[in-house]
Formats: sequence, C-alpha cells, structure tokens
Amino acid sequence: MQHLRDKKILLGITGSIAAYKSCELTRLLSKEGADVEVMLTEAAATLVGPVTFEALSGKKVWTSLWNNPAQPIPHIDLQRNKDLFLIAPATANIIAKIANGIADDLVTSVASARTCPLMIVPAMNVHMWQNEPNQRNVELLRADGVFFSGPVSGSQACGDIGKGRFKEPSEIVEDIISFFSPKVLAKKTVVMTAGPTFESIDPVRGITNRSSGRQGFDIARCAQRSGATVHLVAGPSSQKTPEGVIRYDVLSTEQMLDKVLELCKSNHPDLFIAVAAVSDFRSKTSSQEKIKKVPGVDEMTLTLVKNPDILATVAALDNGPLCIGFAAESENLINYARSKLERKKVRMIVANSVSAIDQTDNDATFVFEDHEEPLGKMSKEELAQRIIDKASDLLKEKVR
Ligand code: CTP
Repeated sequence: MQHLRDKKILLGITGSIAAYKSCELTRLLSKEGADVEVMLTEAAATLVGPVTFEALSGKKVWTSLWNNPAQPIPHIDLQRNKDLFLIAPATANIIAKIANGIADDLVTSVASARTCPLMIVPAMNVHMWQNEPNQRNVELLRADGVFFSGPVSGSQACGDIGKGRFKEPSEIVEDIISFFSPKVLAKKTVVMTAGPTFESIDPVRGITNRSSGRQGFDIARCAQRSGATVHLVAGPSSQKTPEGVIRYDVLSTEQMLDKVLELCKSNHPDLFIAVAAVSDFRSKTSSQEKIKKVPGVDEMTLTLVKNPDILATVAALDNGPLCIGFAAESENLINYARSKLERKKVRMIVANSVSAIDQTDNDATFVFEDHEEPLGKMSKEELAQRIIDKASDLLKEKVR
C-alpha cells in the first residue's frame, strides 16, 4: 500500500552531517508513491552530491537560484502545486533564517515564497538545539504554523549525547503519512488489545497461540495517524510499536484485563477495540520450578480454568467506550460472529477466518446487530483503516 501516492513533496536538504540520511529518506518517500523533487544548499552539496539525489528521485536536483535555464524563477515555480515542503535535515542556521524571513539562497527563498505547508526535521548538536536563540526561532516557526518532525535524543556525530538528533528516515515518513491522514479520530482516546496472551505453566512453559499481533498493531497505527491518543495493551509480540502509540506489555489474560480496566478508569476512552487472540483458559496452577519428567510416568494432566472475557467486561462498564471485537472462526463465520456480538453486547464484530492468523492479508466482514458488510480480501493495513473509518462513523452515531 503506497500511502503518499500522488503527493508532491519538495525536499530541501541543508548542511548537516545527517544529509546522508536524506538519501534513504528520498528513497522511502518515492517508495511510498510520493513525487519528490530535491533542492540542496551549497553546504549540503559539499556533503552529498546532487547526482545521488537525481538517481534516487529520478528528477533534476536544484542547487542554486541562478543559471537554471529550464527554471528561470525557481523559488516561485518549484513550490507551486506542491503538497508539502520538507526541509530535512534542517540546521540551526536555516531555522534562524526562515523564522526571521531571510531569503538569501534557493532553499530560504522557496520557504519565503511557499504557499504549501512546511515541515522541518532539525538535526544539530544538543547545545545548538538548546541554544536560546534557536529555541526562540523554533517557537516562532511553530506559531507560524510550521510542523516539526523531531529532533530526537541520542548519540551525535560529535560524540555528545542529547536532543538534536535527526529522526530516522522511516519515522519521518511515518510523520508525513500522519500529516496527510484525515483526522477522523481527532481528540478521541482509544484503548485496545493486540497479540496473543501467554498463560504460564512453569517458569519456561505456557499456553499461547500463533497470533503475530500484526492486525492489532496496524489498527493502532491507523488510529494514531487518524488523530487519536492510542493506548495499546499488547501480549508477547515482536511487532514494532507504531510511532506515537503508548504501549503496555503484558503476558497473561488477567494482566491484560487489569491494564485495560486501569486505562478505562483513568482515560475514559471513546473507543475500545479488542484485537488480542486471548487465551480462553489458563492453567489452574503455575509451578515456581520447572516441571520435570517422572521416570515411568507417560501421562500428565493439566487442569485449565476459564479466563475472564476482557471485551465483555469493558462492554458492561457504566458509561464505557464504544466496543469493537473480532471473531476468528474456522467455520460458520457470520453466525458465530453475530452470537459473539450479542453475548458480549458490543456494537460491531470484525469477522475473519482463522486462516488470517500470521498472514499479511485478511478477508473480513463487519457484523452488526441487523446487517453485515463484507469487505473482501485486502491487506491487514487496509482493513485497519477501514475499521478506524467505521469506528469514526459509529462514534458520530453516539450509540454504544
Ligand atoms: N476476547 C476477550 N477476552 C477473552 C476472549 C476473547 O477480550 N477472554 C475478545 C477477543 O479479543 C475478540 C473477541 O473477544 O475481540 C472474540 O474472541 P474469540 O476468541 O474469537 O471468541 P471467544 O470469546 O473466545 O469465543 P469462542 O470460544 O466461542 O470462539
């Protein structure tokens, strides 16, 4: 899925050592379908050559206000019809100039002539970032409606450690995708579960399942991009936490329920989405020591007890959130899904086949009390966005 298809992005690169990372940034933006046109300041061009960016963007790279026969007034024409002007990396110098309306080279002249939104990705030494004039300039730009991606904390090229580091290119791309995403869940709070649970039997063994957590993490990412504050309670999963999502790692179903209830109490979420493949049963006892084989004994019995139902518990809360659940079934999909909807008293069930577990695609149906909406096969990420769009519609109806 290309998230930036048809987006025209003008990328200004300035003289920070992080300029080499903008090669990767250009590649990732193009991979997401964006049409990228690159400008380099004189300092940036001494760090990374224009030919590299020409190869990565497939377009002529601009380095000067002057001597451009194909583009006699580049500072006006280059930003025309662009969806975003991105300056990455941005030095303290370029931030100071733009904040104060100075236009003495191609990048700053484009900034002063621009009619499209501007996003700045700073990269500089921690002391330069903290320097009061720089902080004043950043505030001026924010007040002017300029967006910032980063900087982040970490080790720096000079050996110092602190804030000022260039964000990773993939995280900048995520910020840009978020920037363009319609904010259908603006000011909403979402609590959700994802991944499998792990019910321990002894210190090394337990009951779990093959859920990767991918569908839940995709939903969390889409909800975050859509403007929501997202609290994700995750069972053991190797999925990367989506940028901006607040993640709480748990193991067992009981821990998952405790965390979800705590979050519901303290955050009063608008929406609860139960995506976790929760273990319905746990071992009645969990041994402190590793269970050993007993010579001559070929069978062992494990007594299981039922786990609490997280979704049904949240759905029964007074003034609780709008609840959406999943049903993963091997047969009788719609009937089972509808019976879950009724039993757990939730507004919508996303019904899908168990074969979707651990896969990248899903073929789901939205099941409601009185009708269903089959969606057909699509990527889990696309399905995630459809769920968020539907949740936003349901929230507007104000019916739990
Ligand atoms: N769920 C939950 N807590 C549980 C079991 C399930 O919150 N203890 C949620 C799941 O996250 C999912 C929905 O309930 O959103 C349905 O889960 P599923 O495992 O398909 O159904 P079960 O409730 O286990 O019912 P059954 O055993 O009949 O399949």
